[in-house]
Amino acid sequence: MIDYTGKVAFITGGASGAGFGQATVFAEAGCKIVIADIRRAALDEAAAKLRAQGAEAHGIHLDVTDRAAYARAGDEVEKVFGKPPELLFNTAGVNTFGPLEKSTYDDFDWLVGVNFWGVVNGMMTFVPRMIAAGRGGYIVTTASMGGFSGSAAASIYSAAKAAVINLMESYRLALARYDIGVSVLCPANIRSNIAEATKVRPAHLGNTGYVVNDEVIQSLHRIHAHGLDPVVLARRTKEAMEANQLYIIPYPEQKEPLAQHFKQIVDSVLPMEADPEGARARTEALQNWIKDRQALMSSSKRD
Ligand SMILES: NC(=O)c1ccc[n+]([C@@H]2O[C@H](COP(=O)([O-])OP(=O)(O)OC[C@H]3O[C@@H](n4cnc5c(N)ncnc54)[C@H](O)[C@@H]3O)[C@@H](O)[C@H]2O)c1
Repeated sequence: MIDYTGKVAFITGGASGAGFGQATVFAEAGCKIVIADIRRAALDEAAAKLRAQGAEAHGIHLDVTDRAAYARAGDEVEKVFGKPPELLFNTAGVNTFGPLEKSTYDDFDWLVGVNFWGVVNGMMTFVPRMIAAGRGGYIVTTASMGGFSGSAAASIYSAAKAAVINLMESYRLALARYDIGVSVLCPANIRSNIAEATKVRPAHLGNTGYVVNDEVIQSLHRIHAHGLDPVVLARRTKEAMEANQLYIIPYPEQKEPLAQHFKQIVDSVLPMEADPEGARARTEALQNWIKDRQALMSSSKRD
């Protein structure tokens, strides 16, 4: 059981959708909430709503792609609450759909910028502060089911989310010794405002190869109207944190497609009989390298 009382939770994208659901649920659990979002008016409204619900909530206007602003946000949290957050939710994300072959560099820079670099900036800002505080903690980063496979229409988004999933697997290994848990949330469909994501696309990255108009936005709204309630998603996330699960995927309809996708990968690996000697030699070489590296690291620590 994680004791949330008095813990500070920093939630990016907290003005809407999944992030606002997390703010609601973790405030109820006893956390002090910081929501950070690029949309100032929505942020103020969300913070006021949280306070009206009885939460201790603070809003920070932040573009997660802005490293200097992120560092200032880290300082602001410490000033307001007297400590860095124990809980970090990298939830902000954006999407836009179109044919991969028509993509522009701006499409790549915006989608990878927010969905991947935004997460990196969150980790670079807060992980050292969490380690220095020495109180452990928990980090949940929102990727997507899209991160498990390619997509002809959401290709760049999916690639960025794939990188996020992989990076969180690494952070989980790296941070266990500091008692900082790491999970990666992979939603399918959330009842959120993501259909409007293109409205926060910055003008300097505005050259897109895709069709983006009101009709497209309305068609996306129709899908997301059937998405999982963000508060329910946040409750499932909290349960998975209690169980210290790496992956959080509260979408039963995804089990079979995911199984088929990974079966295709596993089935592509040659069976051991195809090259037993080579496999043995490569495995042994790798194990020896790991041992040598560990010895090297511990001797350089002593120097
Ligand atoms: N909606 C879905 O069906 C779905 C599916 C899979 C994954 N996701 C992921 O869930 C997360 C939350 O999205 P949501 O569906 O709740 O959408 P949402 O649009 O309701 O919320 C996302 C929030 O992020 C904010 N944001 C966008 N760019 C930002 C930036 N550069 N800096 C700071 N804040 C920024 C937006 O203003 C918004 O308030 C995202 O990472 C998204 O990719 C959503």
